[in-house]
Amino acid sequence: MHRIQYSSGDIVADRRAAYAVALAAKRAFPEAAEVMAQALELAPWWAAGWDLLGQYRKQAGDVAGAISAWTELLAHDNEGVFGARLKLAAHGVGGDRSPAPDYVAALFDDYAPRFETSLVEGLGYRMPDELAAALISVLASRPARPVRRAIDLGCGTGLMGERLRPLVDWLEGVDLSVGMLTKAKQKGIYDRLERAELVAFLEAETAGCDLIVAADVFNYVGDLAPALIAARRVLAPSGLLAFTLETHPGEEPVVLTENLRFQHSGRHAIELCRSIGFHDLVATETVIRTERGKPVGGLIVVARAGLAVIEGTPDGGPANDNSPVNQAA
Ligand SMILES: C[S@@+](CC[C@H](N)C(=O)[O-])C[C@H]1O[C@@H](n2cnc3c(N)ncnc32)[C@H](O)[C@@H]1O
Repeated sequence: MHRIQYSSGDIVADRRAAYAVALAAKRAFPEAAEVMAQALELAPWWAAGWDLLGQYRKQAGDVAGAISAWTELLAHDNEGVFGARLKLAAHGVGGDRSPAPDYVAALFDDYAPRFETSLVEGLGYRMPDELAAALISVLASRPARPVRRAIDLGCGTGLMGERLRPLVDWLEGVDLSVGMLTKAKQKGIYDRLERAELVAFLEAETAGCDLIVAADVFNYVGDLAPALIAARRVLAPSGLLAFTLETHPGEEPVVLTENLRFQHSGRHAIELCRSIGFHDLVATETVIRTERGKPVGGLIVVARAGLAVIEGTPDGGPANDNSPVNQAA
């Protein structure tokens, strides 16, 4: 379990930091940043302090000051749990947008106790229901065939697993966050749970899986190709892959947002799926959740693995895809 150090180890610095936190709670961000900077003069080694200073400066509108705090953070965040590199990249510094598994694990370890209430009740998250409905509709359109083995990538607390359980004989969940996995285990719905990075997990698995699902997970994964190629290899011929994406309307395959999530181009993701050997794509536009009261647009995709594994570059796809996104493109 990743633990974020919220004490500097210096009693006076901690007192100043507590005052800064109280000011930030009242949305007095410039003042909070000033007091936090004073705390850091006493405890310059304190990574969590630099992270908070960056946050308060950004909220005060001082992006240059935030970047300077995150640059300090990078030097002190030995475990990578604060995502300093991604924070800098999202603000145009450094350019290294590769995913940060330790940051994701720490984020969700911290989030796990309130994940379901916050996401489902607070932010209107409906992806498990919508992805399950899309999946059931595809399953109903095919000759009856049991789903013997299913893998829930980034299973989190098991919201998706609860919907999958009645549909499958054997259900596996994989996630980076021990906190999330602990919640999932308490539900007693998975036959196997593993703490692992999803691409590494898939690359170590034997082929023959009937269903692979990733609900609200690929927005923490920049380049989709390694995950899709690994999923394609593990799926049995005609096995199904079902996932959601946060999307952006531009031409770039993927962008990193300031809240450190990756948004994909739906069109590019679909072309990629086809090039890797997925067919019969059904892609539906949706709203993933709300953020500061605004809808976050996304895509639900269900695709069938072709008969042979193809590991290549995009080369177009079969003509029988049923994709509104493709048709509109
Ligand atoms: C927003 S939650 C979604 C959880 C669940 N799928 C659901 O729909 O409720 C994203 C989950 O994906 C996990 N995750 C993100 N990137 C991952 C990766 N590369 N490998 C494994 N798990 C990952 C996180 O730890 C987190 O539990």
